[in-house]
Amino acid sequence: MRFLDACARRPTDATPVWLMRQAGRYLPEYRAIRERLSFIEMCKRPEVACEVTLQPLRRFDLDAAIVFADILLPLEPMGVGFHFAPEGGPVIEQPIRSGRDVRGIRAIDPRSELDYVMETLGLVRRELEGRTPVIGFAGAPYTLASYVVEGGHTRDYAHVKAFMLEDPATFARLMELLAEVVAGYLLAQIEAGAQAVQLFDSWVGWLAPYDYERLVLPHVRYVVDQVRGHGAPVIYFANGASGMLDLVGRAGADVYGVDWRVALDRAWEQLGDVAVQGNLDPLALLGPPAAIEARVVDVLERAGGRPGHIFNLGHGLTPQVPPDHVKFLVDTVHRLSAGARR
Ligand code: CP3
Repeated sequence: MRFLDACARRPTDATPVWLMRQAGRYLPEYRAIRERLSFIEMCKRPEVACEVTLQPLRRFDLDAAIVFADILLPLEPMGVGFHFAPEGGPVIEQPIRSGRDVRGIRAIDPRSELDYVMETLGLVRRELEGRTPVIGFAGAPYTLASYVVEGGHTRDYAHVKAFMLEDPATFARLMELLAEVVAGYLLAQIEAGAQAVQLFDSWVGWLAPYDYERLVLPHVRYVVDQVRGHGAPVIYFANGASGMLDLVGRAGADVYGVDWRVALDRAWEQLGDVAVQGNLDPLALLGPPAAIEARVVDVLERAGGRPGHIFNLGHGLTPQVPPDHVKFLVDTVHRLSAGARR
């Protein structure tokens, strides 16, 4: 299978492609289900989550599925209640900002407490019958910490940074707890059928390299060390981190996701001998086909036919994107990369 071959840096007949957030509101068939159910209800009903996972695969020739879930789901059983505000953003009911708060939350048993995700993975595997591999995922410790400390979306990450600076020991305890939960959650997903797993570190791009290296990276390494060697490649996506890829590359992952703010060949040089996933600007999909194609050509040229390139966006698909443009993208990647291998 192209996607798993590329993760292992084996040559493929064309560049594999999947897209972060490939299931979601840009698809009318997603919105039809979403009209009846809240996002969390969709995640918690395995037959619905399975259906939504498969929707993009019916329309587009994607080389991987990603299970429909969310990075925030483990927070609820940990004791961190949250909901999605009507405008869309997550809201943490009681942000974690002190030693007392950290002592009040706990590790989880993902097999029983997130059983619905495991069940969805089993259903997806059964439906796909080995034709397309399925990716499981989790949020990386810092990205989850930024949600639980900030209480939701933020412009400046002031609360989480203040916590990190004022009480590094308690912050480290929070990070250790999150790392433990995330590692267990990814291992449970592999056991339930995930053939690769991705760690989303969506908000590390706001950290200085000094803090990332000392206070964040060791926890990412811990998760990757726990999860690697269980038969599923580990992908680490550090969004916005193009200024510190030398550090990111020390995470120990099999595959590194790269955002769109850096040229792919320059990113690859810094990451070294690994597989690389990326990195079209997700909003390039708003443009007409010729504009999309020019940018796909650039990414493929920079990948240079090296084994180990997985085509993806530099971040998630957005709700405004026309599905026809997504189809054009997937087909164009396959067409232009077929037979162009070194
Ligand atoms: O197709 C896929 O990629 C699988 C599904 C998936 C979702 N969330 C579904 C979702 C994945 C991989 C995620 C990861 C996720 N969730 C991340 C990391 C990736 C990234 O985008 O940086 C983050 C930061 C979250 C947290 C989150 N979930 C936010 C901030 C929001 C609200 C913003 C928004 O887009 O509405 C969500 C909700 C969410 N997760 C939706 C979907 C399809 C939209 C829910 C809806 O229908 O209203």
